[in-house]
Amino acid sequence: MAGLKYHISLPVAAGALLVGLPYSISLAAQWMYGWPNKAGYKKYTEALKPRRIYCLTRAVLETLKYLQYGKLYFQWRSWYNNDKNREHYEKGIAFGRRGNKLDLYFPPTVGRCGDGPVPLVVFIYGGAWSSGERSTYCLLARQMAEELSATVICPDYSTYPKGNVLAMVQDIADCLVWARESAQMFNFDKDNIVLVGHSAGAHLCALTTFFLLDLREELFIEAAKQQGVTSAIRGVIGLSGVYNIMDHYEHEQMRAVEYVSTMHKAMNGVENFPYYSPTHLLKTFSPDKLARVPPFGLIHGTTDIIVPAESSMRFSKLFTSLSLKVSLYLLPKVNHTNIVTDLMTPDRHFYHTVYGCIKQEYRKLTGT
Ligand SMILES: *[C@@H]1O[C@H](CO)[C@@H](O)[C@H](O)[C@H]1NC(C)=O
Repeated sequence: MAGLKYHISLPVAAGALLVGLPYSISLAAQWMYGWPNKAGYKKYTEALKPRRIYCLTRAVLETLKYLQYGKLYFQWRSWYNNDKNREHYEKGIAFGRRGNKLDLYFPPTVGRCGDGPVPLVVFIYGGAWSSGERSTYCLLARQMAEELSATVICPDYSTYPKGNVLAMVQDIADCLVWARESAQMFNFDKDNIVLVGHSAGAHLCALTTFFLLDLREELFIEAAKQQGVTSAIRGVIGLSGVYNIMDHYEHEQMRAVEYVSTMHKAMNGVENFPYYSPTHLLKTFSPDKLARVPPFGLIHGTTDIIVPAESSMRFSKLFTSLSLKVSLYLLPKVNHTNIVTDLMTPDRHFYHTVYGCIKQEYRKLTGT
């Protein structure tokens, strides 16, 4: 009798688990990060749709892949906390109106041609406009200073919910103003600045460049300073960047993550998507402003499912149609994560591939 009961309950238990687990996972995700933006009970019927449950469960399980970066995590943690490495960088300098901090990495002392000031690279990390911190990128910034023979700055910025997209752009603009005022102290060239950003960071690099070029009052920075920074930006290098918020929102809808994603909140709602899209801004620029847009280098992995390569392809097409300078690099087998993690240590698989593209662009932009 007990055996029979067991035989019946096993398939039932397996079935319950197969259905129950995805429902639990995706309801937990929506409970933590946000329910569908619908009125009344519709919110829950939307949340319980099988397609949404399936997609969300997949998205949550995909994040388990990050466990493979465990070793790298301990590598950067121990490098950052080891005081011996202080000879390579200046740690935790406060800048700007919100008291965010930045780390500044020195260029290599050997193998440099000439003693003149080196160019400056400002690296803006990604993290869906809602996460990230500068310590994570210490190994990357160190290698980048080495590979490019440049001073590298990696600033924090006010991610959501601390700030919205405008606050993030203000912070990055503040960082650039700080850099120009501190160039002499750290011996880099204040008129030779390249921005490098990954994912949301690439979006913020493009948006900050365009806001400065447009002399936006909402930056609350004197026009003369904005002009100074604009002419110092020699170019922007975007790694797997988002350049059109509406397109990216549609991609999020396809993955059924649009409500759990913080993007729409960080952008102050769907109605502001065009306003914060570099693609849209470019289309509104007058010919004299277009003439001041610096060259862009867009690098994107073709196996990226978080931000598809079409994002860079479309942005590049727009540049070309406006007769602006742009280069596009599409890298096979590279995805949204390894395009940045593989820049951290020379033994990683795509280290030379991705630095190869960055270096080629960087040399063009800085004339080095
Ligand atoms: C990205 O590609 C690497 C192979 O280089 C793979 O190990 C990894 O699982 C892929 N996805 C993520 C999210 O890291």
